[in-house]
Amino acid sequence: MKDLFQCFLAKIILVALASSFVSCYDPSPLQDYCVATNETNSNSSLHFFSFLVVFVNGRFCKDPKLVTSNDFFASGLNIPGNTSNRLGFFVNPANIPGFNTLGVAIARIDFAPGGQIPPHIHPRASEILLVIKGKLLVGFVSSNEYNYTLFSKILYPGDVFVFPIGLVQFHANIGKKNAIAIGAVGSQNPGFISVGDAVFGSRPSIDPKILSKAFALDINIVRYLRTVFSPQDDIVE
Ligand SMILES: *[C@@H]1O[C@H](CO)[C@@H](O)[C@H](O)[C@H]1NC(C)=O
Ligand SMILES: *[C@@H]1O[C@H](CO)[C@@H](O)[C@H](O)[C@H]1NC(C)=O
Ligand SMILES: *[C@@H]1O[C@H](CO)[C@@H](O)[C@H](O)[C@H]1NC(C)=O
Repeated sequence: MKDLFQCFLAKIILVALASSFVSCYDPSPLQDYCVATNETNSNSSLHFFSFLVVFVNGRFCKDPKLVTSNDFFASGLNIPGNTSNRLGFFVNPANIPGFNTLGVAIARIDFAPGGQIPPHIHPRASEILLVIKGKLLVGFVSSNEYNYTLFSKILYPGDVFVFPIGLVQFHANIGKKNAIAIGAVGSQNPGFISVGDAVFGSRPSIDPKILSKAFALDINIVRYLRTVFSPQDDIVE
C-alpha cells in the first residue's frame, strides 16, 4: 500500500515536472485549442487536475463549449499607433485569447520618420516582418559561432524579412514618411530584450566600472547612458 502511494506521488511529481517544461516552450497542442481564460473555477477544462495547479503557458483553457468565433478574432490593427516617443515606434499586438498554446502572435508596428526599434532580442521566437508602407532598414547579427555577421536589407512595401530566434535584430525607418510593418512571431509570448535597456538600464544598475571596461567607454559616459536608458521609455509591450 505504501509502495503504491509512493508510486502515485512519483507520478504526480513527474506530471508536474513535465508540465513545467511544457510551459517553458510553446508546446504542440494536445487539443484543437485552449482559449485563455483567467477563471480557475469549474469552467476550466483542467478542473480535474486543479489540485496540481497546472498552468498551460500560464493560462487555463476556457470551457470548449463556451468558445466562440470572437475568441480567435481581433480588430484595430488598421489604427496607427502613437509613435511620439524617444525612439519613434509603437507596437500594437493583436490581443487574441485563442493564441494561447498555438505558438503564434502578430502585431502592427508603426514607425515615425527616423523611428526605430533599437537592437533587441526575442528570446523565445523567430520573427517574420512584412512591410506594408514606407522604407525600412532591418538586420540581425549572427552569434560568435558565425563570426557576428550582419545580415541586413532595405525593405519596401510587400517585402518580407525573417529574423532567427535569439539573435540581436533591429528595424529602422529610413524613409521620409511614416512606415508600417506587420510582425509575426513563432510564440504566443516571444519576449523582448532591448540590448541598451538590459545593459545600461537594469535595476539595480550593473557596476559602471564593469560596463566601462566591457564597452571601452569613459565611466562618465556610462553614467550618462544610465540616465538615457530606461525600460519604461523603450518597451511598449
Ligand atoms: C486576464 O487577466 C489579465 C491580467 O490580469 C488581463 O490583462 C486580461 O484582459 C484578462 N483576460 C480576460 C479574458 O479576462
Ligand atoms: C501621443 O503620445 C504623446 C506622448 O505620450 C502624447 O503627448 C500625445 O497626446 C499622444 N497623441 C495622441 C494622438 O494620442
Ligand atoms: C568564421 O571565421 C573563421 C575564421 O576566420 C572561418 O574559418 C569560418 O569559416 C567563419 N565562419 C562563418 C560561418 O563565416
